[in-house]
Amino acid sequence: MKIYVPKDSAARSVGADEAAERIAAVGDVEVVRTGSRGMLWLEPLVEVETSRGRVGYAAVAAEDVDGLVAAGMLQGAGESLGVVEELPWMRRQERVTFARVGVVDPLSTADYMAHGGLAGLRNALALEPGAVVERVVESGLRGRGGAGFPTGIKWRTVLNADADLKFVCCNADEGDSGTYADRMLIEGDPFTLIEGMTIAAYAVGAAEGYVYLRSEYPDAVATLTAAIDRAREAGWSGPDVLGSGFGFDLHVRVGAGAYICGEETSMLESLEGKRGMVRAKPPIPALQGLFGRPTVVNNVLSLATVPAILAHGPEAYAALGTGRSRGTSVFQLGGNIARGGIVETAFGITLGELVNDFGGGTASGRPVRAVQVGGPLGAYLPVEQFDLPMDYEAFAQAGAMVGHGGIVVFDDTVDMAAMARFAFEFCAAESCGKCTPCRVGAVRGIETIDRIVANDDRQKNLVVLEDLCDLMTDGSLCAMGGLTPMPVRSAVRHFGEDFNA
Ligand code: NAI
Ligand code: SF4
Repeated sequence: MKIYVPKDSAARSVGADEAAERIAAVGDVEVVRTGSRGMLWLEPLVEVETSRGRVGYAAVAAEDVDGLVAAGMLQGAGESLGVVEELPWMRRQERVTFARVGVVDPLSTADYMAHGGLAGLRNALALEPGAVVERVVESGLRGRGGAGFPTGIKWRTVLNADADLKFVCCNADEGDSGTYADRMLIEGDPFTLIEGMTIAAYAVGAAEGYVYLRSEYPDAVATLTAAIDRAREAGWSGPDVLGSGFGFDLHVRVGAGAYICGEETSMLESLEGKRGMVRAKPPIPALQGLFGRPTVVNNVLSLATVPAILAHGPEAYAALGTGRSRGTSVFQLGGNIARGGIVETAFGITLGELVNDFGGGTASGRPVRAVQVGGPLGAYLPVEQFDLPMDYEAFAQAGAMVGHGGIVVFDDTVDMAAMARFAFEFCAAESCGKCTPCRVGAVRGIETIDRIVANDDRQKNLVVLEDLCDLMTDGSLCAMGGLTPMPVRSAVRHFGEDFNA
């Protein structure tokens, strides 16, 4: 009898370890620790294997276990949610990148293989490197870190660069507020990331890879480090990957808490052991990246999607989505929301469907007023824009960005002038200080908003704010200063009444 209990840190934070311990003590059961399915409001979500499929029990506390067992939990009876994969929340999703998360034991190589693992890498190794790159181009996969640059085109640049050494670096710094998909993927299915990085390395001719993981994710660090060791032992990684003669060494490096180290060139500086300062581009990292060598820098989700593309073919992936936003994206619902968690669907689903149908509106029960999409540098959108499809171009046209797919919900008690001020405060705190528009502009922005709200020469200061936003957008060296105006402008545009004294 197998019972699955998540070991994801979100589930652990609400007592999953204690529940697992108590269930193991019941006797005659095998407790398997998995990642989380992403229905965070149901955690700890315990699943019992039955002939019908895995039957779920929501929010199981250690002290509930004896009562649940007495009511027939070990037979899948009693007060359950039913079969987890048939829940509307799960059925409406299209899980590609997250297909194994919450299903498998993250550190079991046997479980990984049993659920289709390594099929992508095997297919890749049977092709010429250039052909692997072209498959990724054909899939239409774009960078899931936020900028949406075509992954295959980036790889092609690295493949065509002539160098004695190349690198693949995975950006797992996930600093955006309201985002946690990278963490959940690493904690729930780390072999997928390892496989994706290995395919990338083979495709571009890299010998070494680094995962830059934020220190705030200790569970992810432990899981990924253990997974890399097991992949090496199994011959999936190391000097002779799957007996192909191709060698790839993978290492984990832990950040130190700076948001700016999620910017790719700062991350490279940090990986080189220096202070995380932004480098001017060009040269782009694809040509001169880590230690000056051609480097693939991709987000966790981009790399973790590659095995599925190579396993099932680029056409299958490209068949999903809308416009130039192909495939699926992993949206993360958070903030004041009734049902927070992971929703992986094809691009094209609307913002309203995500917030209302999946998320169930606010946790407070009050009306939704604003939603911030794409992290702290993303726009605030009003409910009037809930029919906006999740699509890079549609969002750009609306003065917003999909970013890393984080969606943070606010109810009608939110003060949007305070949120605009917070955007500048955040920028002032996290700026690397290299360029003036960002370093100084963020502080001037705070002062200007304070004057507007205090009705101190309000009209003039609204013009100053607009000028400052133009200057930061046009003059900043990187997205930190360059995108800070986005939340500010959207707050003024859609919620101007909050800026009146
Ligand atoms: P960018 O548009 O400058 O570059 C995107 C990527 O494409 C980079 O890796 C760049 O090196 C590469 N690239 C550009 N031209 C290329 C070419 N010709 N050949 C090969 N590669 C090329 O955007 P940037 O500054 O890297 O990222 C900004 C985005 O980051 C924002 O849109 C935001 O959504 C996101 N972001 C994500 C965060 C997170 O926690 N995931 C945090 C903060 C921002
Ligand atoms: Fe540094 Fe800000 Fe300039 Fe980026 S925009 S380089 S974070 S000072």
